[in-house]
Amino acid sequence: MNKFLLGTNWKMHKTEQEALAYTEVLKEAAKEYEEYQFFIIPPYTDLKGVKQLLKDSTIILGAQNMHWESEGPYTGEISPEMLKEIGINLIELGHSERRQYYNENDFDLNKKIKAAVRYGFIPLLCVGEYTEDKEYGVTQEVLSKQIKIALHGVSATDASKVWIAYEPVWAIGVNGIPADVNYVRQVHESIREVLVSLYGNETAHAMPILYGGSVNPGNALELSKQPHVDGLFVGRSAWDMITFKQIMELLNK
Ligand code: 13P
Repeated sequence: MNKFLLGTNWKMHKTEQEALAYTEVLKEAAKEYEEYQFFIIPPYTDLKGVKQLLKDSTIILGAQNMHWESEGPYTGEISPEMLKEIGINLIELGHSERRQYYNENDFDLNKKIKAAVRYGFIPLLCVGEYTEDKEYGVTQEVLSKQIKIALHGVSATDASKVWIAYEPVWAIGVNGIPADVNYVRQVHESIREVLVSLYGNETAHAMPILYGGSVNPGNALELSKQPHVDGLFVGRSAWDMITFKQIMELLNK
């Protein structure tokens, strides 16, 4: 298996100055923790500066969204062409905040995944259920639907480049309730089963499944030990390098 993935989506945080200061520190930390594959996903305005800083680093740089067309009349959107020029490696797609507030849907995500693969990016597809889905016992169905539509028509070769992030909506953000590790284990197992049903064993196991949602120094180690948890996708606890370094140190044990 590849290196354990450890990374963060900054959401709408960090000006360019803050982004550069943070990246300098992370770059140094990354040299001490070579067992992880780090990735960071800053806002668009930080990408160029951060990319410059990362040119001699193994840290993967991602964008938080992308349109599927290479150009066109889509005010406010960013194209694969534009991100390619900056030298971005990864595109986060379908974060629950984009689904919730900007009507991101599985069918558009399918087009975005295909575009991302065409341009040689790693697509990082986020999936997750709402509290109601969990309470009504339909988590597996919800995730399966999100994954099947987003990957519809994506070949096994292309799918093997996709990363999946399981991020239960109820576990994300300041009001999030950290997920129970046993629940995470079961859900990750069921996601792997969906991938196996779509692509067979080999491809399905090549696709990392990350967990995200209130990951913090108190739960990171247990989460990281679960089978089928191939990485952690951290929000708040990684925006401050003190807590992020605590997580790196803990996982190292
Ligand atoms: P938090 O870790 O702040 O809950 O955010 C997780 C997340 O949304 C990562 O994409």
